[in-house]
Amino acid sequence: MPVARAAVQHGVDQPLAIEEVNVAAPIGREVLVRTVATGVCGSDLHMLKGHMGRPLPTIPGHESAGVVESVGPEVTHVRPGDHVVCCLSTFCGGCERCLSGQPNLCETRDLDDRPEGVEPRLSREGDLVHQFARISGFSELMLVHENTVVRVPDDTPMAQAALVGCCVTTGVGAVFNTARLEPGATAAVWGLGGVGLSAVQGARLAGAREIIAVDIRDDKLEVARGFGATQLVNASRDDPVKAVRALTGRGVDYAFEAIGLARTTEQAFTATRPGGSAVLIGIIPEGVDISVSGRYLLADRRLMGSSMGSNRFRFDIPKYLDLYRQGRLLLDELISHRAPLEGVNEAFEAMEAGERTRTVLTFG
Ligand code: APR
Ligand code: ZN
Ligand code: ZN
Repeated sequence: MPVARAAVQHGVDQPLAIEEVNVAAPIGREVLVRTVATGVCGSDLHMLKGHMGRPLPTIPGHESAGVVESVGPEVTHVRPGDHVVCCLSTFCGGCERCLSGQPNLCETRDLDDRPEGVEPRLSREGDLVHQFARISGFSELMLVHENTVVRVPDDTPMAQAALVGCCVTTGVGAVFNTARLEPGATAAVWGLGGVGLSAVQGARLAGAREIIAVDIRDDKLEVARGFGATQLVNASRDDPVKAVRALTGRGVDYAFEAIGLARTTEQAFTATRPGGSAVLIGIIPEGVDISVSGRYLLADRRLMGSSMGSNRFRFDIPKYLDLYRQGRLLLDELISHRAPLEGVNEAFEAMEAGERTRTVLTFG
């Protein structure tokens, strides 16, 4: 059985342990991928902190790109040697949501199940290790369903491609697919990590005339300017709702929340103009409610959720990579740090402190 070094989470809020794990050989529609790069995402931090209610031990990581090592007998999308980007929005292609154009909401739950009596995908010393987000990308090898990957050209830079698998698809997709922001609209984005910066540049690409970036750190705000923000609001100094109103008159057409806090979601909603839309991209921990004014909602305002940028990732990811090749979608600039697998705990600490745009772990 293939052996891989991986960062294993054994407990809530404990450092990940770098250990050897067993990764099973692919069966059915499974693909074994040699990981080249995995980004460290805010959702991995949620997992680490126990916000997701998922079983342990597990191997976090889900923003990954790599090269196909071997495939199960039923796989048709890729062959060994193909370069792929992973996306956790595994789709069956046949359920009602998939067929209605929302494969990110696929209803088929057993796509990743292995037949009874067959060894698990991931294990350590004979014990089950749970796969996280259908990917577990903090590992030298990933065993995934073929509908968790999209083939990309062999010359695609893999660290950049990895980011497209989650934060770019999530942020740009929230603008293109969920909000369908129209040219000339006004936008504001709360939170300027990998997801929020992707929403900022999605708004720029979609032709927003004003893009207000909101964060509590000046360094993040300066980075956002490079991605297309036209105005900057530091929410630790100014009330962001008042600031957005002062800049736009009655509020923005589209507000995006890319942090995952109830308070900032409420702020984003309150900063929309009548008829405007607030899009919640960040992941709100289980059990946390959002409270908005009924009177505000009445003025044709919308509060929308966006799951992984409402993606159809086999269609979206190649499109985003084309925009990158044309120099229109910035990916190099999203990568502030690169580290080996051993750097994963430091990357989480820096993320919590708000110090990094994105760390990409590189393998091999
Ligand atoms: N107001 C404004 N900005 C804030 C606030 C606040 N109250 N609190 C934190 N921020 C900023 C941080 O300074 C940081 O720049 O939000 C940003 C969050 O960025 P990351 O931690 O890098 O998170 P990211 O990976 O972009 O994910 C954001 O999207 O997919 C989800 O699970 C993910 O909920 C997370 C969110
Ligand atoms: Zn489906
Ligand atoms: Zn992610």
